[in-house]
Amino acid sequence: MTIQPIYTPGQSITVGAPATVANLVCGFDILGLALNAPQDILTLTISDEPGIRIRHTDDYQLPVAPSANVAGAALLALLETLPVPVGFDLVAHKHIKPGSGLGSSAASAAGAVVAANLLLNDYFSKPDLVRFAMHGEKLASGVKHADNITPCIYGGVTLIRSVFPLDIVPLDAPPLFVTVVHPQIEVRTADARQILKQQLPLRDAIRQWGNIAGLVAGLLQKDYALIGRSLEDVIIEPVRSILIPGFDAVKQQCIEAGALGGGISGSGPSVFMLSEAEHTAGQLERIMQEVYAKIGLPCKTYVTTLNHHGVTVIPPSSI
Ligand code: HSE
Repeated sequence: MTIQPIYTPGQSITVGAPATVANLVCGFDILGLALNAPQDILTLTISDEPGIRIRHTDDYQLPVAPSANVAGAALLALLETLPVPVGFDLVAHKHIKPGSGLGSSAASAAGAVVAANLLLNDYFSKPDLVRFAMHGEKLASGVKHADNITPCIYGGVTLIRSVFPLDIVPLDAPPLFVTVVHPQIEVRTADARQILKQQLPLRDAIRQWGNIAGLVAGLLQKDYALIGRSLEDVIIEPVRSILIPGFDAVKQQCIEAGALGGGISGSGPSVFMLSEAEHTAGQLERIMQEVYAKIGLPCKTYVTTLNHHGVTVIPPSSI
């Protein structure tokens, strides 16, 4: 017998969906972490009127047709498996700029399905929600990757051991400060994937999986030096960093100033750096601002920390 979802037509919920840093330098498509800032704000209302209606209150001019919208695509996937014909009205205010490399599409898709699930009294499991939200990623980048979606839903640092079948491993991590610079250019994930080499020398693969294992071990053992040594990417960064003006200067100067390490956030153009101490994180922000001021490219910076909760409900009193 199919279990019926319990819901109240007309009920609304507002959630905050965090930005995420995918890849974590060496873990292309398999590692990611959630940030405390920035975050998107989504309000979802459940109704008996089937279908999905989307409205944006930001200036990004994103499509509102459900099948052309990442949150819409994720909600459509969720509705397909629901045994009752409900509908959703979504009002989204994005603070994570699309094409920033900070998991903007993941925040929309993950935020929408987590909100829907809350309105459905937790009808679905977290892995189900990741599967639905990946439909949004497929729409945005052409590929169902889960390295932004998963930390956005679970919080913290996550490992996607496998997408098909989905195997998610939340990873413990020591306190970390994250400094992010978003140079104001747009890099489309689909384009940044297109330029990647499809084959690689075995020696590069060996170096890369040494780094991935080192990073995971460093996080679990709270060994900052090991984390730092492992933040090295010999496969993706050499290809993609060419798309990001100022990348080499930011990286070199931040590491000299005491960053544990860092690199391209997701598919860029944002660049992130991890630090053990807050004052270092602040210093890195100033370095990033100086690099882009010199180049004459406007940028936005964030100094933030790991978000351990993922998508969270925002009480009506704080909206
Ligand atoms: N792993 C994906 C990529 C993340 O690097 O293409 C995109 O945000």
